[in-house]
Amino acid sequence: MKEYLREYFKLLRFTKPYKGLFFLALCCMAVSTVFDGVTLGMIVPLSDRILTNKEVIIPGDVPPALAQVVAYFNSLNPHVLLRYMVIFMIGLFFFKGVFLFLQTYLMNVIGESVIREVRDALYRKFQDLSMSFYAQKRTGELISRVTNDVLRIANALTYALTDMLYQSMQVLFFASIAFYIGFKISWFLPLISFVIFPCIMIPVVKFGKKIKSYSAEVQNKMADLNSQLAETIQGAYIIKAFLREEYEIERFREINRQYYRFTLKGMKRTIFLSPFTEFVGACGAMVLLWLIGQEVIAGRISFGVFGLFLASVLSMMRPLKKLSNAHAINQRAIAASSRIYKILEEEPLVKEASRPVEISGIDRDIRFEQVSFQYNPGEETVLKDVDFTVRRGEQIAFVGHSGAGKSTLVNLLPRFYDPTRGRILIDGRDIRELRIVSLRRLISVVSQETMLFHTTVRENIRYGKEDAGEEDLIQAAQKAHAWEFIRNLPRGMDTIVGDRGFRLSGGQKQRIAIARAILKDAPILILDEATSHLDTVAERLIKDALHVLMKGKTAFIIAHRLSTVQNADRILVIENGKITEEGRHEELLRKGTVYRTLYDLQFKV
Ligand SMILES: Nc1ncnc2c1ncn2[C@@H]1O[C@H](COP(=O)(O)OP(=O)(O)OP(=O)(O)O)[C@@H](O)[C@H]1O
Ligand SMILES: [Mg+2]
Repeated sequence: MKEYLREYFKLLRFTKPYKGLFFLALCCMAVSTVFDGVTLGMIVPLSDRILTNKEVIIPGDVPPALAQVVAYFNSLNPHVLLRYMVIFMIGLFFFKGVFLFLQTYLMNVIGESVIREVRDALYRKFQDLSMSFYAQKRTGELISRVTNDVLRIANALTYALTDMLYQSMQVLFFASIAFYIGFKISWFLPLISFVIFPCIMIPVVKFGKKIKSYSAEVQNKMADLNSQLAETIQGAYIIKAFLREEYEIERFREINRQYYRFTLKGMKRTIFLSPFTEFVGACGAMVLLWLIGQEVIAGRISFGVFGLFLASVLSMMRPLKKLSNAHAINQRAIAASSRIYKILEEEPLVKEASRPVEISGIDRDIRFEQVSFQYNPGEETVLKDVDFTVRRGEQIAFVGHSGAGKSTLVNLLPRFYDPTRGRILIDGRDIRELRIVSLRRLISVVSQETMLFHTTVRENIRYGKEDAGEEDLIQAAQKAHAWEFIRNLPRGMDTIVGDRGFRLSGGQKQRIAIARAILKDAPILILDEATSHLDTVAERLIKDALHVLMKGKTAFIIAHRLSTVQNADRILVIENGKITEEGRHEELLRKGTVYRTLYDLQFKV
């Protein structure tokens, strides 16, 4: 129970910015509740005075104010009373409608605002977290958090919370009426509720726990569904090429089926709660009816007062039902909110220094000092004591077998990851002391996999420099030897390139990526050459483009092309995460060890 409350209050924290609205909604609910009570109270004059033309009798001592009201009702002519009542009820329902609208609207505003805020917060967090976070999480899981889980929270904060507050108020209000009348008849009557209440609450709590665990399963399955969707939409090409459509359909069906199964299991318990609560409540009400009915027969209370008593007891039923339903919704929301908090509370592994230093350029050199790196603790060490220095303006090439650790090595410089041991220094200063933004501003990256966004060619190039003018964009495209083909696209720079740059060829995409990097014009360049085999013309164009890109820059090049290796000032051979050889192209060829083999295998056609 304590755990539940703690988690529930944590869920409520999402509404904190809307305290004011919340208070207003609460006031509206209170007014609505009073209106409900007054409506119910109309039973008394209606049945005692208007329908039967008798007197209202409340047993025992009655407070003077109430006695006055009763005396007033008893003195009025039934016809007059009926007229008053009709007019009064019309007004009452009108105002009740207004307040009901307000309370529902306000709670919905809160719910929708929470959805918006939490989505924004999650997205910001995603941008904030380091690359390692993305390596561990499935795409579908993250999408689920932002789409489904957020909805569940909003559901709890809108409908369930409204129900809980409004219905609790109603239960309290009706219970006080019932208790008041009940006590007047016998001290014994209200005690019955102490038997009924636990009968209802125990299964509600027990089922709630089950519902929560099913909800976790349902969310897992939803994440699986999203993951499979994301993967197979992106991988449509491969699926078709390998004739795996049936396999993927089967896989999807299976996950979908499990989703269905867990949803129904949770649902079964949820919908069981309402009829159950109602049944137990009704049993209690019938016992009361039996006991008090005898008082009416004996003439000790008027029929109207009895009617009010019975109506209050029965009116408690609906709120109780709704409360048990709200509990189920809350359990689901708590499961969702704990998953969301887990992301919101996640610390990026790559952290900004407490007093970060701005850096605006590089004066001397970049030094990797005994750098070792593991992707995850306990896993294989991908880089081992890597130690080298690159002078400003030097172009250094990395070669090595696939999986040797070349991409990993260059990814440490923009702090996509931090070294497990050792340091990386720019002009003698540890890059961990630098403001991350200012460090990354210094670095242009052309990555191994070209990523284009689903937008125009112009916007894709402009990604390199937000405020670039049209002239700069065209110039960058020209330098990247991309202008020719961009001009011939159906809408030129305004052509939308598909989700993953679908409509462009591999070489074209690469040249757009290079244009992007040229536009950024940063002093440090990281170039993870794609291994795609290009024809000689494209190869030459890209070679030219790269040449322009590298001019005057300090460049880290992962080379798969002979020309890039030959022109590099220095070549480092990486074997199994270690630097094994170092020198210029001719030197290394002469010495003839690993480099020679690589050269023969990779570059010499
Ligand atoms: N996100 C990751 N999590 C865990 N291990 C990884 C991750 N990325 C790469 N590795 C592992 O690190 C090692 C080095 O990978 P890396 O991508 O640096 O190789 P590479 O030299 O760039 O290879 P290639 O020439 O094929 O691009 C590989 O054994 C790989 O399995
Ligand atoms: Mg690589």
